[in-house]
Amino acid sequence: MTDALIALQTSLAERLAALRGCAQHKLPGPLLDVAVRQVALPGGDVYLVRPSDWEALRDEEAAARRPIPYWARLWPSGEVLATHVARNPPCPGTRVVELGCGLGLPTIAAARGGAAVLASDGHEDAIAFAAHSLALNELEATVVQADMDRDADALAERGPFDIVLVADVLYTVANADAMLLLLPRLLEPNGEVWLADPDRAGGRRFLAAARSLFHVRTIEHQDAKLHVLRPR
Ligand SMILES: C[S@@+](CC[C@H](N)C(=O)[O-])C[C@H]1O[C@@H](n2cnc3c(N)ncnc32)[C@H](O)[C@@H]1O
Repeated sequence: MTDALIALQTSLAERLAALRGCAQHKLPGPLLDVAVRQVALPGGDVYLVRPSDWEALRDEEAAARRPIPYWARLWPSGEVLATHVARNPPCPGTRVVELGCGLGLPTIAAARGGAAVLASDGHEDAIAFAAHSLALNELEATVVQADMDRDADALAERGPFDIVLVADVLYTVANADAMLLLLPRLLEPNGEVWLADPDRAGGRRFLAAARSLFHVRTIEHQDAKLHVLRPR
């Protein structure tokens, strides 16, 4: 292992243990067995740090009765959204929030253009990894642990935002309903939501209800749909 990867692992271990409130030796092994993935985006490659064996991490978390670590892999919707952001980079100073950021690729694409980005995820491990990937790309953004239902007030207090980014978060009915309540509280009157979804039932439920609040324009991609929502 290279010195840079060892330093990354050491820093991640400190942050993950602090966020989980446990000793470093209690962290699951697959969480710290990390790899750096180079992702090609319009405008240049970016680097993402992630656990190298997602299935091993999922199995260890299941054995410890912890939630499935959906945050720990890059989903097709995340790539579709990040590509859209990279093709349409928000101007410097644009206020952007990402909900359910996971590894944070769309956040990185937005921060690269100089937007003021708040990345958020309900899972504490995601926060540590997204923050480290930002550092790896020599970019700045604020990264917070926030559940879009339980922490809706705290997220709304940090707004309003010009752009809300969401990729593949609507896989539960609860998330679809929480998103519907949260978005109007986050958005500027002229703001936009850029939402990527692989046509999950929760996504369809959200969109059916959202059409009364937003104009929706949909761009079809092979692995996900990209919906652009503007307040009516
Ligand atoms: C399928 S993953 C998608 C991750 C990333 N957006 C991507 O597309 O690669 C779903 C993400 O949403 C987060 N998430 C799920 N429910 C959430 C909630 N209620 N509030 C905040 N984040 C949530 C998970 O922790 C996870 O990072």
